[in-house]
Formats: sequence, C-alpha cells, structure tokens
Amino acid sequence: MRKPIIAGNWKMHKTIAEAVDLVREMRRGLNAVETVESVVCPPYIALPAVADALSGTRVGVGAQNMFWAEQGAYTGEIAPGMLEGWCQYVILGHSERRQYFGETDEGVNKKAHVAFAHSLTPIICVGEDLAQNEAGETDKIVRGQVTGALVGLDAAQVSSLVIAYEPIWAIGTGRNAEPADANRVIAVSIRGAVAELYGETVAQAVRIQYGGSTNDKNIAGFMNMPDIDGALVGGASLKAESFVGMVTATARVRG
Ligand code: PGA
Repeated sequence: MRKPIIAGNWKMHKTIAEAVDLVREMRRGLNAVETVESVVCPPYIALPAVADALSGTRVGVGAQNMFWAEQGAYTGEIAPGMLEGWCQYVILGHSERRQYFGETDEGVNKKAHVAFAHSLTPIICVGEDLAQNEAGETDKIVRGQVTGALVGLDAAQVSSLVIAYEPIWAIGTGRNAEPADANRVIAVSIRGAVAELYGETVAQAVRIQYGGSTNDKNIAGFMNMPDIDGALVGGASLKAESFVGMVTATARVRG
C-alpha cells in the first residue's frame, strides 16, 4: 500500500519568523494524522528553524531545490550536504525552475543521484504546458521527463522516490485538472513509463502526486482516484487551515 503524501511547496513566500509561526499553527493538526505523510517545503533560509519547530512531530521537511555539486564556486547555490539533517525531501525539476532557471531533465537526473547520496528523497516534478496539452502531447512530454529524470537510478531508489504530476496550466491558476484526467496521465504515462523501465513491482511502489490548484475543497476528488497518492500543494499550503484541511480530508478518503 502506498501511503498518501501531501507536500506543501511554499515557493518564495514567508520570512523565517513567518515560517515558524505557520508551522506552529499547523503542527498539532498535521501530527494528529497518522495515515497521511505531510511535508512542508519552506525557502532554504527557513529550513533549520522550521525543522526545529517540527522536531518530535511526524511532519516532514523538504527543500525546494538544490545544486548537484558537493561544493565549489557556484555563487548563490545550495549543496546537498548543506540540506542533510534539516530535511528528508527535495523537490526537483519544478516547472518554475524549468521555466525561469533553465532546469533540464539532465540536471534533474544529476540532482536525483546526488539526493540519494545524501539521504534525501527526491520529489520529481513533471507536466505539460497548455499548448502541449491542447496538441495532445501530454503523454509524450511526461514520459520523456520521467525517463530523463530516472536515468541510472536503481529499482530501490525509484521505488522510494515521489513523482509529482503538475500540468503547468493548472499551477497557480485556480484551474485544476479533472481528477479522472490526472489519474489517467498518472496511471498510463507516468506509472506506465516506470513499469516499462523498472517493471510492475516498482511501478506499483512509486508514489505519484497530483499538483495544480489543489485545495481543501477539491482534494477529496483527487484522493478518490486509485493512482493518485497525494498532492504537491502551492497556494493552499500557505495557510494552516487549508493545508491541515487537505491532510485530514486525505485521511478521511484514504485512511
Ligand atoms: P498551486 O501550485 O497549488 O498554487 O497551483 C502547485 C505547485 O506549483 O506545486
């Protein structure tokens, strides 16, 4: 059985003080839910304070990115070893990173290898844009991104990581994908690609989230789908009430 995972991607929001206030507001509600894994991904600078505020709870912490080199002359970047100990997860290849910062499938793949070397579990983001969706290219795009991200990883690594299917046209737009459509892409194009590369056992083990305009009102519709194992949440993860509401709603549907 795949344990549902709801991860909050805070993006470039919250100062350190605001981040600590937010997790203090959330932690009791999140910690009360045993059947759903909850993870918060604050900006780098708030990671230690958030990790401290969550210590002793079952709430996980993730980074939103990292670089693949161990150290060196890479001004402005964060090395995987710097994250170790402060978080368990790292989001890789978010569409905003691909769009604004030139992230590629090859880069995501390098980062995924390094993440495992530092005991970090990657949350690998894939998804098509609106033009690709309308041109019927979703399957091709998403399969290519999955295949590119996983090059050289072994079966145990792929079984343990998380993939987030985030159609770009649904991110931050208030226009979520239909749950049945998201489920089909996840089952056929993502789990299907993993099955072709690694076999059915690995494909059934890997957890695959949906992301894109999810909230406490629509999450149950996604969590009712057999192949959707949680959500990567942007806007609705910035308020304690809506994020805790999403985790408790998931527990009601799937717990
Ligand atoms: P959203 O963002 O929930 O605000 O649409 C999702 C994401 O980018 O991970």
